[in-house]
Amino acid sequence: MKGFKIVFLCVLILIVTPVLSYGELQLKSIMNDLNNRMKTIVDAINREDFKSIEENARIIADHERPPMEERVKILGFLKREAPDFKSIDDSVHARAKELAETAKKKDIEGVVANFGKVQKSCVSCHTRFKSRIVEEFYKTEIN
Ligand code: HEC
Repeated sequence: MKGFKIVFLCVLILIVTPVLSYGELQLKSIMNDLNNRMKTIVDAINREDFKSIEENARIIADHERPPMEERVKILGFLKREAPDFKSIDDSVHARAKELAETAKKKDIEGVVANFGKVQKSCVSCHTRFKSRIVEEFYKTEIN
């Protein structure tokens, strides 16, 4: 009986997991990874752990992009605004690279200033595009 319950539970998990994750943009998990890196950097700034700042900033700078099919869907939805979306994304890459460079020089003031610039790029895309994309792809409103 116990064995049956375990098998049943496993089958249930196997069925439910893809259903739940279906329809979620890959972008969302990329975003959550970026967010965790940013949190790690805040911690590293407070500990003056330049190595960790540099490592995490480089990962943000080289962050992966959603699969081609998803990018086409998002950019197609944004139409004429697609280049703006891309250029804000480019600025995250560029600012994060600068952050890594200042961390390498162990310049804490520069690190704080450049961290602020990365954060600003994150927020400028969110304020301009996030809720519209969430509404379109999840058919729900946020905020
Ligand atoms: C070019 C646009 C753009 C940039 C730049 C951007 N984001 Fe996002 N972000 C989005 C969009 C669109 C969503 C909604 C994704 C979704 O819900 O599928 C989002 C969602 C999020 C979320 C919420 C995820 C969730 O589980 O609901 C977090 C956290 C986040 N971003 C963090 C960041 C951080 C940190 C940065 C900067 C390092 C950043 N974002 C830069 C567009 C952007």
